[in-house]
Amino acid sequence: MLPQYDYMKTTVTSVSEINVDIGISKNNLEKIIGLLNHDLADEYILLTKTKKYHWNVVDPRFNDLHKFLDEQYELLSVAVDDVAERARSLGGKSRATLKEFIESSQIREDPGAYPDGDSMLGNLLKDHETIIKTLRKHIEECQELEDEGTANFLTDKMEVHEKMAWMLRSFLHTK
Ligand SMILES: [Fe+2]
Repeated sequence: MLPQYDYMKTTVTSVSEINVDIGISKNNLEKIIGLLNHDLADEYILLTKTKKYHWNVVDPRFNDLHKFLDEQYELLSVAVDDVAERARSLGGKSRATLKEFIESSQIREDPGAYPDGDSMLGNLLKDHETIIKTLRKHIEECQELEDEGTANFLTDKMEVHEKMAWMLRSFLHTK
């Protein structure tokens, strides 16, 4: 039998690799890596939810929505990869198991539910708005922690989510 892996004992935020000497204190780096891992979990759950809806959408606009949701999935995929690698750039680990993502994300999945097209769009919109509000707080925190690089990085990510939210809102007003 394989030993039980206790994920709670992992220290994603501890900067333990080769010294990261970039003018930010170790303590601040660890806090920033924590923020990034939180954003990563949120985005990963939303990524999965977007794919679920891409697969299962039933709507008179099926062709448009099916393609649109796949495009949104691709955009989120890039964002997820960037956020994970940003945490690595600062010397931390990136959480990368479904268990950890689910347990540390504020975005909720809807197992067993297959909402109609508009509800899918509305759910995704709400999740993007939650992420945008969180990113806005994290940008401010990164500035307070004297990391303009990550503040700028998260600002770019927030803009990506704002654009995706606009597109979702526009779909909701075309009926
Ligand atoms: Fe597909």
